[in-house]
Amino acid sequence: MYELVLKNGFLVSSKEVRRGDIVVSGGKIVDIVDRFEGEAEFVHDISGKYVLPGLIDAHVHFREPGSEEKENFETGSMAAVAGGVTTVFDMPNTEPKCTTADILEEKRKRVKGRSFCHYGFYFGVTDDNFSEMKKVKNIAGFKYFMTHSTGNMGVVEKNGKNGGCVGIGRHGEVTDLSVLELVFDSVSNIVAVHAEDDLIIQENASKYFGDIEPISHGAIRSRLAAYKAVKDVLHLAKKYNHRVHICHVSCREELREILKFKTDKVTFEVTPHHLFLTEEAYEKHRNYVKVNPPLRQEEDKDELWKALKAGHVDIIATDHAPHLPFEKEREYLEVPSGVPGIETMLPLLLDAVNHGQIDLEDVVRMTSYNPSRIFGVKGKGELSVGKDADFVVVDMKAEKEVRNENLYTKCGWSPFHGLKLKGWPFMTFISGKPVYKDGKVDKNFRSGKEVTFLK
Ligand code: DOR
Ligand code: ZN
Repeated sequence: MYELVLKNGFLVSSKEVRRGDIVVSGGKIVDIVDRFEGEAEFVHDISGKYVLPGLIDAHVHFREPGSEEKENFETGSMAAVAGGVTTVFDMPNTEPKCTTADILEEKRKRVKGRSFCHYGFYFGVTDDNFSEMKKVKNIAGFKYFMTHSTGNMGVVEKNGKNGGCVGIGRHGEVTDLSVLELVFDSVSNIVAVHAEDDLIIQENASKYFGDIEPISHGAIRSRLAAYKAVKDVLHLAKKYNHRVHICHVSCREELREILKFKTDKVTFEVTPHHLFLTEEAYEKHRNYVKVNPPLRQEEDKDELWKALKAGHVDIIATDHAPHLPFEKEREYLEVPSGVPGIETMLPLLLDAVNHGQIDLEDVVRMTSYNPSRIFGVKGKGELSVGKDADFVVVDMKAEKEVRNENLYTKCGWSPFHGLKLKGWPFMTFISGKPVYKDGKVDKNFRSGKEVTFLK
């Protein structure tokens, strides 16, 4: 007997929406038919609702090991499935940092059996871990920080005094691009780059001292810093003909440069916070919305949306970066950068669909199909026979407010608290199991597995 049938849903791919019944067995889609007539253990009639391939969030910080007070793989992955995300790629800026093969193996052991969603890991680049980089297998990609952010993983020359400005960049250190050249020259995996120029940030930071207002964050980690870094990355990616993925593009200068020089080997992501918030948010949220790269202007947001609507954006990824409220309440310099986002990405995008800003097919393309294709994830990113039964059923008519108290993320807050959105996840399935339904994560289904990367 079949395990599960989803009847009467609208099935959404990156290209079309069509009616169909999905038949699942052994955790995989075994058939998609107009009308299923047989028997199955579980049959869900989802008339009027839409089925999307589960979202793949290519950029999260689940904080294990080292900062479990902010998030751990249980809470982070519960937040994921509550938000329709069925696979995440976790970043290496943990403590210890994921920069040796042994630490990666430790992380694998630690997460195994505990995650509600599927997952893959990034491996961090330092200026002296090439032998480790060559040892590791089955990673999402290498993560290269061009400047310091949370975790101080910027690959910068240690030629000066460490000023120790939290999240700003250390004084006396300059971005060392020779390491990035070596990376491009010696490994073939995709390199995900946090592109902000360290030297420009330091110069800007040196002009600011004393009581710094949150709005200064954008002046310190300036648009020029982002643009210059992206320009350097594009130049080197071309020189070495290497695959590069540019994380969290935030301003229009970066975007234009990427679109001008984009090839199959250059991809990029935008985040929900750069799509739905601007620096005006500092007034209400103060340092809660201090994030790297910073929130930008209305014109930047508009241009990101224009590119998105024109089909030029490869991926929307959250950069889910939880920090605790008490940390966010400190003075600017002491506040860690980052905002949570994994539970609100899909509702925000569905609300945008309801407002006619984008189509559901676009959502699937940028949050599932493209991440799967670009990172080469086996068995995911599409609703088709043979693929894994990871999907999210969405109710496009459901209207609900984002509420801090309803979130699963351990940090317990969202910059979107109080926002009313139309279009919400109704059920999330991981390997055919209904891990999220009736507004709750079912703790019996902790069936997330490490994914296989085919590239
Ligand atoms: O704002 C950010 N927060 N940017 C990053 O690059 C890291 C992240 C974090 O881990 O908190
Ligand atoms: Zn990040």
